[in-house]
Amino acid sequence: MNAKKRIAIFASGSGSNFEAIVRAAKDGKIPGCEIVLCVCDQRGAYVIERAEKHHIPVLVTHPRDFGGSKADFEAAIADVLDAERIDLVCLAGYMRICGPTLLGRYEGRIINIHPALLPSFPGAHGIRDAFEYGVKVFGVTVHYVNAEVDGGRIIDQEGFHYDGGDIAELESMIHAVEHRLYPQTIKKIISKI
Ligand code: GRF
Repeated sequence: MNAKKRIAIFASGSGSNFEAIVRAAKDGKIPGCEIVLCVCDQRGAYVIERAEKHHIPVLVTHPRDFGGSKADFEAAIADVLDAERIDLVCLAGYMRICGPTLLGRYEGRIINIHPALLPSFPGAHGIRDAFEYGVKVFGVTVHYVNAEVDGGRIIDQEGFHYDGGDIAELESMIHAVEHRLYPQTIKKIISKI
């Protein structure tokens, strides 16, 4: 039997997508993989508590720890990914743009989830931007990460019609899609890496 693929999840905040992936993996819904590491750039982020609860080691690190050097920060992260023999990095609310150091070592093995139907509404406020624009079809995208923000090759998307005018309701509908789509997409690509 092939060795299980080793996944690291990067997050900066609440970590509800982290939780959804971990639970799906534990429930056997993403066979052939294990979540072995959480990387978080915000001390005090709730995702750290979630990871500890699931006994998943957390690397908490910030460019400040490297005198503000993004290259050194990313090199240190990539060293840990190497040491942990990580096959796939899943960005899940990681609020940093991956720079050339990390991409140089892991491009093709980093994916991201975005709360809008790319290429529409890239950036940090995809839900709000789509809502304020007034679109009626919303959705979620999972894509490979490259140097262009939210611009890498799309792996999967799911959309839905919404005309309710309530952004809080819309946000929870989008998160519900994310929590299903991300594990499902990981399952789809895990056998190919
Ligand atoms: C999600 O909406 C994700 O699409 C975006 O950031 C949010 C993270 O939420 N990239 P959480 O931390 O997983 O709860």
